[in-house]
Amino acid sequence: MDHPFFFTWSAQSSVKPVELTGGEGAWFTTADGARWLDLGSLSYQVNAGHGRKRIVEAIKRQADQLCLSTAHAVFPAKVELAERLLRLAGPGFSKVFFTLGGAESNENALKIARLVTGRFKLISRYRSYHGASMGALSLTGDWRRTLVEPGLAGVVHVHDCYCDRCPFGQRVESCARECASHIATTMKLEGARSVAAVIIEPVPGANGVLVPPPEYWPMVRAACDAEGALLIADEVLTGFGRTGKAFGHQHWNVTPDLITCAKGLTSGYQPLGAVIVHDRVARHFDDNLLACGLTYYAHPTACAAGVETLKLYDDEGLFDNAARLGPVLRRELDAVAARLEVKTFVRGLGLLAALELEAPPPAWTRLGAELAARKLSLHDDGKRGTCIFAPPLCITEDELVRGVRGFGDAAVAAFGGRAGGAS
Ligand SMILES: Cc1ncc(COP(=O)(O)O)c(C=O)c1O
Repeated sequence: MDHPFFFTWSAQSSVKPVELTGGEGAWFTTADGARWLDLGSLSYQVNAGHGRKRIVEAIKRQADQLCLSTAHAVFPAKVELAERLLRLAGPGFSKVFFTLGGAESNENALKIARLVTGRFKLISRYRSYHGASMGALSLTGDWRRTLVEPGLAGVVHVHDCYCDRCPFGQRVESCARECASHIATTMKLEGARSVAAVIIEPVPGANGVLVPPPEYWPMVRAACDAEGALLIADEVLTGFGRTGKAFGHQHWNVTPDLITCAKGLTSGYQPLGAVIVHDRVARHFDDNLLACGLTYYAHPTACAAGVETLKLYDDEGLFDNAARLGPVLRRELDAVAARLEVKTFVRGLGLLAALELEAPPPAWTRLGAELAARKLSLHDDGKRGTCIFAPPLCITEDELVRGVRGFGDAAVAAFGGRAGGAS
């Protein structure tokens, strides 16, 4: 059937639409009556899970009270959400700038960095995704950027913390963390004190769950400090418990200057993003114009959804659940890897993990069919050679184990099992 709208990131004739009807917890349902186990949180956003009535009720209550807003408006949900975000970000953060999603958060973060530093260069990584708008896409390093270049002037891409296939030819046991020191070198080569900001995902998500070595973030922070550049943590995918902490960068005791977020902020129940700004940056705008704005800034129903989502995470201890189940997810993926005849890598932190392997396109097509037959939804990406797991944080251990073992069966059917390996 030809639909009267576009599907994103696809040649339209290749799309197989999915007719969503609802869901509950880690499961979503489709119009044909099927129940799918959602091991990918749709587009990585459903951290709280499907069918969370209390978020829907909060949206309804807010819509009844106040459904419209304007730039200088104040109302309780806006204040409470900002206060909650600042608490999650930790000491030193003092202001929130609201947006409608992840790309817009990064657009505004890069503008803030340019306004505050008076510099225009920006450093980001090749294996990154920062959003589809022109600025965010210029920061993006992966194939999506190259389709619409030239992008924003002044963006410089650097290599990744990709320990399994180190771009510097090193081994993590013996390297000098060239992936981090390379950023310091690049900043110097770009011209002394010319870089406004370095923007990195704490753990690059869609590009393969590249968990950095523990020294990485502290080294990048030190490099930024040495050059007077800001450090932006893109927490759009890793935020709100995905890696087992409120924000991914908190694993490494480093304080960025700006945190960008979206997705898990409302678990996708309303479109909302935010830039959480450290006081040392925020103070600049006490007397200087903040040249950023949007009509739907801090929309009331989105703020209400955000407040209720953050309360839900607290009430149900979902960040801790992600931390607890992370090792289970890794263990189960290691077991899948042991069953496959192809060479694999397993990486992960909290409820974000990847199985990487090399296989020809027909095998990836087979995997898609095998997963569909088992009603398992995850991010299987033949182009990058990765299967990425990011289930709702409310998933139970039993659901997770069953889901990953089902994935293992599908993977063996698609890629071939190891002779004599466990089945
Ligand atoms: C790390 C990261 N940044 C930014 C974005 C863009 O967010 P949005 O699609 O809400 O614009 C994404 C989306 O997947 C993301 O994963």
